[in-house]
Amino acid sequence: MNKILSKKEVEILLNKERELYNNFKSSSLKLDMSRGKPCPAQLDLSQGLFDVLTSSASVKGVQDYRNYGLIDGIPELKVVISELIEVEQGELIIAGNSSLNLMYDSLQRAMQFGIFGEQPFNKQNKLKWLAPVPGYDRHFAITEAFGIEMINIKMNSDGPDMDAIEEAVLDPAVKGIWCVPKYSNPQGIIYSDAVVERFAKLKPAAKDFRIYWDNAYMIHTLEKTDAEMMNILLAAKKYDNEDIVYMFGSTSKISFAGGGIAFVASSPKNIAEIKKHMSVQTIGHDKINQYAHYLYFKNANNVKKHMLKHSKIIAPKFEAVLKVLDSELKPLNIAAWSKPRGGYFISCDLPKNTARRTVQLAREAGVIFTPAGSTFPYGRDSDDSNVRIAPTLPDIEDLTTAMRVFCCAAKIAYYEGLLN
Ligand SMILES: Cc1ncc(COP(=O)(O)O)c(C=O)c1O
Repeated sequence: MNKILSKKEVEILLNKERELYNNFKSSSLKLDMSRGKPCPAQLDLSQGLFDVLTSSASVKGVQDYRNYGLIDGIPELKVVISELIEVEQGELIIAGNSSLNLMYDSLQRAMQFGIFGEQPFNKQNKLKWLAPVPGYDRHFAITEAFGIEMINIKMNSDGPDMDAIEEAVLDPAVKGIWCVPKYSNPQGIIYSDAVVERFAKLKPAAKDFRIYWDNAYMIHTLEKTDAEMMNILLAAKKYDNEDIVYMFGSTSKISFAGGGIAFVASSPKNIAEIKKHMSVQTIGHDKINQYAHYLYFKNANNVKKHMLKHSKIIAPKFEAVLKVLDSELKPLNIAAWSKPRGGYFISCDLPKNTARRTVQLAREAGVIFTPAGSTFPYGRDSDDSNVRIAPTLPDIEDLTTAMRVFCCAAKIAYYEGLLN
C-alpha cells in the first residue's frame, strides 16, 4: 500500500474484508491447494498406458521382461530417456516409480557406505547441505531426517546465488546441494546458462560433495514451446568434473504420479557405484511398467508432444490464479508472486509476518494451502512471508474461489498487522 493509512481507515478496510471472509466461511468450502498433483484430465492423457499391454501382447525385448534382471532399466526405454535428458545410455539408470526415493537412497548410501572410498557420512563429524530457498519441502525433509544441517541459499531470478555457493563449498563439511534447475519448485525459475556453467565447474573442498540436480520439471512447460536449458552433465565434462552431479527425474508428472518411471543419470563412475549398491538392494525394478511406458511413448519427441497436452490443460489454471492475484492484491502493492513459464507452482511473497496467519485464515474458511514456512528448511521462513500455490489439481471455478479466499485472508492478515 503506497498511501499511509490512518488507524480508522485500516479498521474500515479490515471490517470490509472480514465481512467478505465470513461470507466465504459460511459457504462450507472444502478446497485443497496444498500439493502439486496432476488433475484427472492430465492423468487421462496417459490412460492408453493400460491398453499397450494385454494378455496376448509380447513382453519380450532383449529378454523376457516378466522375469528378473536389467537393474539399470530396459534398453528400449533407455533410448527414450537418454535422448530426452541428453545423456549417454551408460550414464543412466532407469529404476522404480519415484525419483524422491532415488534421492533418499543416494543420500542413505553416502551415509552408510561413503562415496568413492571417502568416510561414510555418518562417521564424519559434521555434515552440512545447501538449500536454495524457497525450495521443495520434501528435499528438506530428507536432509533433516539424516540430521544434516541445512544452510539457506538465496534464489535469484536466474538460479541460486552462486557467489554464496562457491564460498560455502570451501567448507569440507558441506556435502551437497538441492537444486530444481528448471521451472523450480516453487518459483518456476529456470537456471541460466551462466549458473549451470558455474555449477558444472564447482570445486568443493569435500571430495564427496554432490549436486542433487532434481530435474522434476525438465519438460513441463506452460507455453507452446519448452524453454531451453544447458545440460549440466555435458557442461561438467568440459571441466573434467562430471562426478559432481546426480541428475534425477521421473515421469510422475508426465504419465502417472507415483505410477511412472524414475531415473538417475551421472558419470559412468557414479553410475557404477550406485549400481553396485543397488544390486544388493534389488534384483531389478518393474520392467513391465518400463516396457508399457516405452510402448506408449516410443520416442522422446512423443513425450515432448504429450507435455504440450498437459500444458493446454494446466496453463489456464495458472492464468486463473494470476488473474485473481492481479485483481485482488496488485492494487495494494504489498505482495509479489512468480509468473512461471512451466512447472507446478506459483510462489507468493506476502507482507512480512503474515503468511502463517493468511494460511490459517484460509484453512478456517475451508481452503487448504501448503503450510507457511514449508518452503524453507525446518519450516522456518524468518520473514513469515512465502506461500506456495499449487494450481494444477482443482478446476478453474474452485481455483478462483480458493484464490479469492487466499487474497481476502492475506488482506485481513495485513490489516491486522498494521493495527498491531
Ligand atoms: C521438485 C520435485 N522433485 C520430486 C518430486 C517427486 O517426484 P517423484 O514422484 O518422482 O518421487 C516432486 C513432486 O512434487 C517435486 O516437486
